[in-house]
Amino acid sequence: MSVRRLAEASVQPASFAFNRANAAAAKQWIKKYPKGREQSAIIPLLMIAQEQEGWVTKAAIETISDMLGMPRIRGLEVATFYTQYQLNPVGTRAHIQVCGTTPCMLRGSEALMDVCRSKIHHDQFHTNDKGTLSWEEVECLGACVNAPMVMIFKDTFEDLTPERLAEIIDLYGAGKGAEVKPGPQDGRTGSEPASGLTSLKSEKAILKSTRDREARAATKAAQAAPDAIIATAVPGPAAVAPSNTSKPKTKAEPATAFKAPETKAPAAKAAKPSLEDKNRPAGIDKPALVDDLKLISGVGPKIEGVLHTLGIYTFAQVASWKKAEREWVDGYLSFHGRIDRDDWVKQAKALAKGGVAEYIRVFGKKPV
Ligand code: FES
Repeated sequence: MSVRRLAEASVQPASFAFNRANAAAAKQWIKKYPKGREQSAIIPLLMIAQEQEGWVTKAAIETISDMLGMPRIRGLEVATFYTQYQLNPVGTRAHIQVCGTTPCMLRGSEALMDVCRSKIHHDQFHTNDKGTLSWEEVECLGACVNAPMVMIFKDTFEDLTPERLAEIIDLYGAGKGAEVKPGPQDGRTGSEPASGLTSLKSEKAILKSTRDREARAATKAAQAAPDAIIATAVPGPAAVAPSNTSKPKTKAEPATAFKAPETKAPAAKAAKPSLEDKNRPAGIDKPALVDDLKLISGVGPKIEGVLHTLGIYTFAQVASWKKAEREWVDGYLSFHGRIDRDDWVKQAKALAKGGVAEYIRVFGKKPV
């Protein structure tokens, strides 16, 4: 990581002021933030100053900090933290930031830096003889999938070879930087496989993939609505002729569009088992002391109320249920299966035998 220090005092200008256009732009940026939060505009304002001066001077940092009513040290902290701010004069035509972080390094960024050393200056942050080019090593610039890469002002140049970077530097040096197209320099689009596409190679394949996806979605929708009649999309005279009758189509008629699912009357609620059923567990009158059935995991106040209406008040009663009796009680619950799923019988046996202490001994935890 490069050391971020302000430029020598000898190259620092005595003062800074935005030109008319940039002053207006700065004002706009400040207006974007709520009153009292104007400091948030420090980043765009420093960038505008850099675009105006070519680099960020100490005078610019101080002037902008004063404009935003923030301590100058805070402005200095921001300017010295982000590598997009140039704290030294840089090349007037290009300042090349070479990413030296691991993915780019493994893909050859060292060789790119050698090109900069030979074509610009041996040391970073120094301009070439004409003052038109400079370079530096920076941390990851977020284009690792196209490593190695460099950034020149706001553009990134990716998938570089030393030869291609040398060409780019020559073009910028000659004032023809606008001729270089940013992005991958090896011909690939974005970050598609470097060896070329491996799938969806033709428009036909892409269309087929889209159709398959749509067909899968339609099948899924039909499965979700089993009663829907999916009309066979057979184009024929009946399909293309405009119909002036409102007679509904039958299943046998070809149709042209997906038929909306027919709404089905809600299934009748399963009848509760008869109170006279032989499988009904024996109920009792409410005893003076009722057990707190809610200690059984899966029994809440509502279910406890249901159990009471069925004459079930004690752990011992629940503990004695056989399969047929459990199924009978299950018929009175809104969510079926919980008696066996939560093993009410085992829980009730423990609670009936020794209360909470026995429950903890058996289950290793308190009843909830
Ligand atoms: S490592 Fe170079 S762009 Fe991320």
